[in-house]
Amino acid sequence: MVARVENEADIACMRAAGRAAAEVLEMIESHVVPGVTTEHLNQLCHDYIVDTLGCIPAPLNYRNSPQSPPYPKSICTSVNHVICHGIPTDRKPLKAGDIVNLDITVIKDGFHGDTSRTFCVGKVSPHAERLVRVAQECLYKGIEKVRPGAFLGDIGNAIETHAVKNHYSVVQEFCGHGTGRIFHDAPQVLHYGRAGTGMRLEEGMTFTIEPMINAGTRHLRILSDGWTVITRDRRLSAQWEHTLLVTGSGAEVLTLRRDESLG
Ligand code: MF3
Ligand code: CO
Ligand code: CO
Repeated sequence: MVARVENEADIACMRAAGRAAAEVLEMIESHVVPGVTTEHLNQLCHDYIVDTLGCIPAPLNYRNSPQSPPYPKSICTSVNHVICHGIPTDRKPLKAGDIVNLDITVIKDGFHGDTSRTFCVGKVSPHAERLVRVAQECLYKGIEKVRPGAFLGDIGNAIETHAVKNHYSVVQEFCGHGTGRIFHDAPQVLHYGRAGTGMRLEEGMTFTIEPMINAGTRHLRILSDGWTVITRDRRLSAQWEHTLLVTGSGAEVLTLRRDESLG
């Protein structure tokens, strides 16, 4: 079954969960500076999620499958060639020139809000800045396709087309997903594919779009911690994610930040 809201009360809950997740990214922005550790960012986010927002950090102890090790932290911190699911650590402070994706998922009143963005740490190289910008554009190109009657493949195709036009590649092993009472629900939202194919979108569906865009090839490796996903060629990867509601005429971005205007 695909994730969908059943009534106005569900919609209000998804809005509240999405807003809470967005607020974490708004809060943390000023802390993403050279010298800070990803573990410190994890701690700040954890305390804000629990103490200020009264939410649950969904990643903590989350398992991808019954055999997978539980995720040990409250947020994901993916630096440079880490594609996604980077584990916060106190061993390696961020340095100027790094790019880092912070992925936040909160549970509020039983509903999930899932969002991420890539930050530039201090001044970064023009090629890193361009990758980060194009990855955000890929997310927006995907969101633009969302409306009742559109196909899931329209989203993937728009993202892939923009990435390829900019000589980047799209990660295929990880995708967006339905979300609501369940963190990772149907449908799978691929970030590549053909327009006019796949499931048709309907009003009330709730899902994420979260393209992972690589500077080099799309190929990846998972580290022995069972979580950290890196580019096989060790070149940079950037990701941006929003949780969306399909409305009567388009998309409502449930995790929109105050610093953000779409497109
Ligand atoms: N937030 C990630 C997503 O966008 C999933 C993280 S799972 C975790 O789907 F356990 F690593 F946190
Ligand atoms: Co997600
Ligand atoms: Co996420």
